[in-house]
Amino acid sequence: MRLEVISIFPDYFGVLQLSLIGKALADGLISLDVHDLRDYTHDRHRTTDDTPYGGGAGMVMKPEPWGEALDDVLAAADPSAPPMLIMPTPSGRPFTQAVADRLATAPHLVFACGRYEGIDARVAQWAATRMPVLELSLGDYVVNGGEVAALAMIEAIVRLVPGVLGNPVSLVEESYAASSDGLLEYPVYTKPPTWRGMDVPPVLLSGHHGQVAAWRRAQSEAITARRRPDLLDHPDAPGLP
Ligand code: ADE
Repeated sequence: MRLEVISIFPDYFGVLQLSLIGKALADGLISLDVHDLRDYTHDRHRTTDDTPYGGGAGMVMKPEPWGEALDDVLAAADPSAPPMLIMPTPSGRPFTQAVADRLATAPHLVFACGRYEGIDARVAQWAATRMPVLELSLGDYVVNGGEVAALAMIEAIVRLVPGVLGNPVSLVEESYAASSDGLLEYPVYTKPPTWRGMDVPPVLLSGHHGQVAAWRRAQSEAITARRRPDLLDHPDAPGLP
């Protein structure tokens, strides 16, 4: 999988060199190119933003540097398979595990990280004439720019690429609404069996696989009902038996 990022803060993406994603990069399972949007400016101050038409607070990212950056990305892309452009924005469609699953099979993704009040709307409009564009939100809150959102999305997507996770079984078993059962994860424990006066639930030490599975399922259902009842209401949710 080929990943590209366009940002005025390329250093944000240094953390992708760490841990399993870093290993996937080192092993060549994925590639990552981070472009500094300011390299596509032509003024002394390397300006990427300007005041909004129509007034209002904050600044808007100018379209010209974005246009040139995307021209460069497209010129270097496979013409028969244009990349998909991901634009993180709080006004995007929700980025969910289902979206991550879908994007994990894409050969080439480009993340356009906006700052301030966003990117001039013509950039997405123009880009959509050249490649698929997905405006995606990390969640119903605002962070300072698309970088943190892109990092979260990249990690969620790349860990699904075959070979990236050391133990692919953990993908199958992991819970969260993403999992096959659509429930949140049950609590997990490791040694020692007693810590600060608290015991591991005895069933987990019993060796009865059926009882362990039933206990975990019951815990998942209870936690989901308490913390995320919306997951149970969802038409795709399995619901409680
Ligand atoms: N940029 C700022 N907030 C964001 C969010 N919640 N999701 C995606 N991009 C963002």
